[in-house]
Amino acid sequence: MTRHLYVHLPFCAHRCGYCDFVTVVGRRGQHGAYVDALLAELAAERGLLAPRLETLFLGGGTPTFTDPRALEHLLEALPAADEVTVEANPETVTQDLARMLRRLGVNRVSLGVQSFRPHLLAVLERVAHPDTVRRAFYHLRDAGFDNISFDLIYGIPGQSPSDLDADLDDALELGPEHLSCYELEAKPGTRFTHAHGAELEHQAEELESYFGLVVERLTSAGYRWYETANFCRAPELAGGRDLRTRHNLAYWLGRDYLGLGIGAFSTIDGSRWQNTPRLSAYVAELTAGRRPARELEPLPVDVQKRERVMLGLRLDEPLSMDGLADVLDRPAVQRLERLGLVDRTDRTLTLTPRGRMLGGGVTADLLA
Ligand SMILES: C[S@@+](CC[C@H](N)C(=O)[O-])C[C@H]1O[C@@H](n2cnc3c(N)ncnc32)[C@H](O)[C@@H]1O
Ligand code: SF4
Repeated sequence: MTRHLYVHLPFCAHRCGYCDFVTVVGRRGQHGAYVDALLAELAAERGLLAPRLETLFLGGGTPTFTDPRALEHLLEALPAADEVTVEANPETVTQDLARMLRRLGVNRVSLGVQSFRPHLLAVLERVAHPDTVRRAFYHLRDAGFDNISFDLIYGIPGQSPSDLDADLDDALELGPEHLSCYELEAKPGTRFTHAHGAELEHQAEELESYFGLVVERLTSAGYRWYETANFCRAPELAGGRDLRTRHNLAYWLGRDYLGLGIGAFSTIDGSRWQNTPRLSAYVAELTAGRRPARELEPLPVDVQKRERVMLGLRLDEPLSMDGLADVLDRPAVQRLERLGLVDRTDRTLTLTPRGRMLGGGVTADLLA
């Protein structure tokens, strides 16, 4: 039985040009019906969940754009968990919303900051201004949140190294417990790529140095670089707390999870499926008492093992090789060890900091 639950809340005020997530703009009138459908899906799948959850994650879309009554109803009805995270867009975080989240058991908020530079926020088509981000952060602190994460993006068209440096200054000044720093991914053929093509190519050449800057600045400021794109305040600077996100750690460690909502993925007992991304079909099926349409993805054992290696090596802790030896290319492991990219013991494998900087390419080389 799984101890990790993801719930997808797809609604957004506006679709940002770079976004490739399953989102639905507006539809205020349908938020309540969608939440009812989510709860019907939960009831249908309850047997897959452990009696006590470790983590619950409400992701989006913009969960905090959901009609407040519907969001309140959802949070009241969802099972309790040790770590309850909600993704929030800064412009949606009012004092009332922050208090409501806290009252309903949310203990971690992941704030979609992206940047503090007004010209870069404009390129990303973000609604929030830098001051909106700061106000949201203080509303959350005032409501009692002591576990706040920022999402930042780098490689934005028009960004310079000093812009990124200034973004890191602004983030560090607020001092969140956790930061996720992503390089901008722009899907070919989208409106965004069309508008910023040449500048995206220029930014692509800078990504490695941006990544280096992010790692250098955040680790020097006392954050633990515990996953390729994720940093948390080190335990010695956090009263001994382990501030790694337990929900995402479950993904990276290859644990089972159940996902509810449109487009949500679940991986349970060696099977993976994705719910239909169509809102009306999802709501209609569940209202009629049926499970939503799903796409099943075959997950043979060797694919599972490869995923374990790819995801496990993103972490700063040694990956146990028990049961994984047959998907590794032994000569490649030895070669990468000689190059100082991999540390190996009889039973474990870890990427060195240099190996982690090079990332997925090194891991792909290790696989047979
Ligand atoms: C599921 S998204 C939505 C969160 C929230 N709606 C927001 O926009 O702030 C979670 C995070 O993924 C990151 N993200 C979304 N699209 C991205 C892209 N194309 N490239 C890199 N990161 C992206 C952003 O940092 C975002 O905060
Ligand atoms: S608000 Fe977040 S989820 Fe919604 S479109 Fe923008 S990036 Fe995507």
